[in-house]
Amino acid sequence: MVEKSSRFLDRPVPVPEPESVPLSLYVHWPWCVHKCPYCDFNSRACPGGLPEQDYIDCLLKDLDGELQWVQGREVRTVYLGGGTPSLMKPESVSRLLSGIRSRLPLAPGCEISMEANPGAVASGRLGAFAEAGISRLSVGVQSFQDPQLRLLGRIHTAGQAEETLGEVRRCFSNWNLDLMFGLPGEDLGLLKEDLSRAVGAGSTHLSVYQLTIEQGTAFARRPPTGLPDPDELCDMADAVVSILGRAGFRRYEVSGYALEGRQCRHNLNYWQYGDYLAIGAGAHGKVSTKKGVLRFAKHSSPARYMDGVRRGQGTAHSRWVADRQLPFEFMLDALRLTDGVPRIYFESRTGLREEAIRPELDEARRRGLLADAGGRFRATEKGMDFLSDLQEIFLI
Ligand SMILES: C[S@@+](CC[C@H](N)C(=O)[O-])C[C@H]1O[C@@H](n2cnc3c(N)ncnc32)[C@H](O)[C@@H]1O
Ligand code: SF4
Repeated sequence: MVEKSSRFLDRPVPVPEPESVPLSLYVHWPWCVHKCPYCDFNSRACPGGLPEQDYIDCLLKDLDGELQWVQGREVRTVYLGGGTPSLMKPESVSRLLSGIRSRLPLAPGCEISMEANPGAVASGRLGAFAEAGISRLSVGVQSFQDPQLRLLGRIHTAGQAEETLGEVRRCFSNWNLDLMFGLPGEDLGLLKEDLSRAVGAGSTHLSVYQLTIEQGTAFARRPPTGLPDPDELCDMADAVVSILGRAGFRRYEVSGYALEGRQCRHNLNYWQYGDYLAIGAGAHGKVSTKKGVLRFAKHSSPARYMDGVRRGQGTAHSRWVADRQLPFEFMLDALRLTDGVPRIYFESRTGLREEAIRPELDEARRRGLLADAGGRFRATEKGMDFLSDLQEIFLI
């Protein structure tokens, strides 16, 4: 076997045709009405008024600085995530999108998504968001049970969520509903009820996440009681796949389920090792260049970020990805997809030859974790069950 160290030199490698790598844009909105105790996203409660217009000015100025990396390339998807971007006024969303359009060519049919919290969308705003150019909404419902919503510190009831979903249905034909399971006091029966209400809500996409206790959150400091045990969690995870499958939602990613043709194109681009510019507090971006793959992150504190952008420095740090790190980065995302990715993406998007990871590919196949039939790298069923073992094989 070839020594791992002799195959890699710890340096970036050129991406042969960066302009052929699909490009997305992520925009981060860092504020919420209230910080949920389980959440480790870059979000915080907004005391008093928000500096909405100043923040949008900073986002656009930040974008000006990023254009150098993507000259002449079209953006295929835009994603307004958070935090709770549905707190923005529709006029602000419209100003933001016009600003983006005047700086970057958006591809025809560009998917423009926005996250919304049912407790933070004033009545009548959803239609105005659609008019402003949002083409896909992602609604954080989490649970249809009031006791669980209270334990999760959510700012809405199940009834309010249902009301919002009615308005979402009227305004959007392409939308996602976020659900969580493995919640305090939840059992299989309650999850089945949630799944049937989620399916009945009429979305085109469902994201179903098992609750994780993240470091630094209120739940990590004071863990909730009454969490389901590992056997119950396994039964719950199986129920999610089978109930949603029967309802026509195919699992296409670890937590992603979609009706035919309704996968989230923005997230697909991440998982296929595409490029994404990123603007906003704490946003992370990745661009391919003739020199190599560059990753960068913005200051996570909104005040520090805005101050930095005004002084021409919103980026907190950036780094070229070394050749040794590329295989793991690529496989970490690609193997989350149940259909995997075309094999040729490995060479065209990392700049490495497939030969460079031959020993790792052989090992993954030998252990029954990787299938590469049909010109794709794809986790087998066993590989999906032991996904982190499979991904770790590519840690070089
Ligand atoms: C940034 S939030 C998006 C929407 C909006 N902020 C809201 O909460 O309504 C993304 C989603 O990640 C999921 N999530 C966040 N923290 C989680 C955790 N600790 N465990 C599992 N899922 C989590 C939730 O389903 C949440 O809706
Ligand atoms: S509303 Fe969403 S982003 Fe904000 S704290 Fe809760 S889960 Fe996190």
